Amino acid sequence: MIHIIFHIVFGISSFTLCLITVLFGTKNAGRFGLSRITKNTFNIHRTLAIITGIVVIISFSLGFVLGNGLNIVLTFEFGGIHGLTGLLAVILVLLQIIPSLIIKKRKTIKLIHRIVGYSLLIDLTIQLITGILRYAAIYI
Ligand code: HEM
Ligand code: HEM
Repeated sequence: MIHIIFHIVFGISSFTLCLITVLFGTKNAGRFGLSRITKNTFNIHRTLAIITGIVVIISFSLGFVLGNGLNIVLTFEFGGIHGLTGLLAVILVLLQIIPSLIIKKRKTIKLIHRIVGYSLLIDLTIQLITGILRYAAIYI
């Protein structure tokens, strides 16, 4: 039971952190008129991104490992959309962070970074909504 409380806390934090990371990303991409990337906003975006990644992986582990004892059927069949979008969140967050930390030539990953970044935020929004519905269905 205690794992579900941690799961929800980490789950809501994943969404919030990702939202703030994306907002700093849009600032870095110069979407606010003249205000463009600075050393500070780059560092904040990078640090928040890494924390988001860790928190998403912990949330997934609390659902899949502690919640469902690594049971794939429970997670992806009975877990439904919530289980699947949870796995997708882990894949997207790794796909977003690892190349960004390795590849120095931003031009090559700029477009994919934009697509994956916004997709992750949409995925975590679905995750939050289906998570609340799942909680209501099981515990209320
Ligand atoms: C959870 C992980 C991350 C998310 C969700 C994310 C999301 C975003 C988004 C949505 C944008 C704006 C794109 C646009 O509107 O054109 C952006 C831009 C940017 N991000 Fe990230 N990002 C993440 C990780 C990182 C990391 C780890 C780095 C660098 C080490 C990084 C560096 C940048 C830079 C330099 C920009 C400015 C535009 C560009 O050169 O691509 N991001 N990010
Ligand atoms: C990054 C965010 C999240 C990830 C990666 C994630 C992932 C998962 C996974 C893989 C499961 C196991 C599949 C299942 O039984 O449904 C699960 C279960 C669950 N999640 Fe999440 N989740 C996240 C956020 C949330 C949030 C925000 C809530 C609630 C507000 C929530 C509520 C639940 C509930 C109620 C269960 C069922 C637990 C049980 O069987 O006792 N999740 N989650």
